[in-house]
Amino acid sequence: MKNYTELSDIKDLQQLITEALELKKSTSTLEIGKGKTLGMLFFNPSLRTRLSSEKAAKLLGMEVMVMNAGSDSWKLEFEDGAVMDSDKAEHIKEAAAVLSQYCDIIAVRAFPDLKDKEKDEAETVLNSFKKFASVPVVNLESATGHPLQALTDAMTISELNKKDKPKVVLSWAPHPKTLPQSVPNSFAEIMQNLDVDFVITNPEGYDLNPKITKNVSVIHDQAEALKDADFVYVKNWSSYENYGQKLSEDRNWTFSAKKLKLTNNAKVMHCLPVRRNMVIADEVLDSENSVVIQQAGNRTFAAQAVLKRILEEKVQAKDLGKNA
Ligand code: CP
Repeated sequence: MKNYTELSDIKDLQQLITEALELKKSTSTLEIGKGKTLGMLFFNPSLRTRLSSEKAAKLLGMEVMVMNAGSDSWKLEFEDGAVMDSDKAEHIKEAAAVLSQYCDIIAVRAFPDLKDKEKDEAETVLNSFKKFASVPVVNLESATGHPLQALTDAMTISELNKKDKPKVVLSWAPHPKTLPQSVPNSFAEIMQNLDVDFVITNPEGYDLNPKITKNVSVIHDQAEALKDADFVYVKNWSSYENYGQKLSEDRNWTFSAKKLKLTNNAKVMHCLPVRRNMVIADEVLDSENSVVIQQAGNRTFAAQAVLKRILEEKVQAKDLGKNA
């Protein structure tokens, strides 16, 4: 794996999940990252991604540098040919090249503006780092995807699943803010690569990008969709069709104990942070059905598996260069 910016960078999903689960059981710190540095740049806040990735890197023996981009550092210009007379003091061309001197892997979090679909889908921040950095780049959640979260989610389902083909439902929930589609996009993408019966349920107007959901069944009746579910992933997202808009805050979609009763005693998932009694009711989050803490715990091992893969590939590429 050269970069991990999208799920298609994983060529052997099952093997990577197995490896992440093995890393979870392991008690030893590895040596592969010794003398190597992970640099993380956050354009947006984070609790889990920041700390689990730092822990993952340290478990591999890496050093870690973290920066809140824009507030701690100079504001970055991404436009090619820009006359830099605004508040943006540094161009990505220099910034990425300089960071590549200090870091062996650069990881970036950059959320969408949710105003201009085309602009967000261009993934300017992430793709600029890929273009101008000379080291591998990892996506810590971008405008359209959160592949580290998705790998964790797939790992958690694999860990808990007791069936040949479990039913997994991604269920939209109300939220006071407009949120990106990154987490549901990546979850929908990764579920299509697992042996699961995958269904999405959301109100009219909230269908995700059809290029991502492809042939997945989208049911607008939540009760019907939840029937016999073994796993329910609850998540809010803003409208894709009416891009970035909040069309509804319908509390009938809040995942409650009544909704849980419609399922096959489902495990309830969420990427966190979660708005209690808005997205998921206390009675569910505080029940044995909730696996959100286990899910967040798995973030470390999914990140560790990804960073390890990247480091291994770098070692292999170096050895090939030596032997050529
Ligand atoms: N799930 C997730 O990405 O959490 P943070 O935003 O806290 O990193």
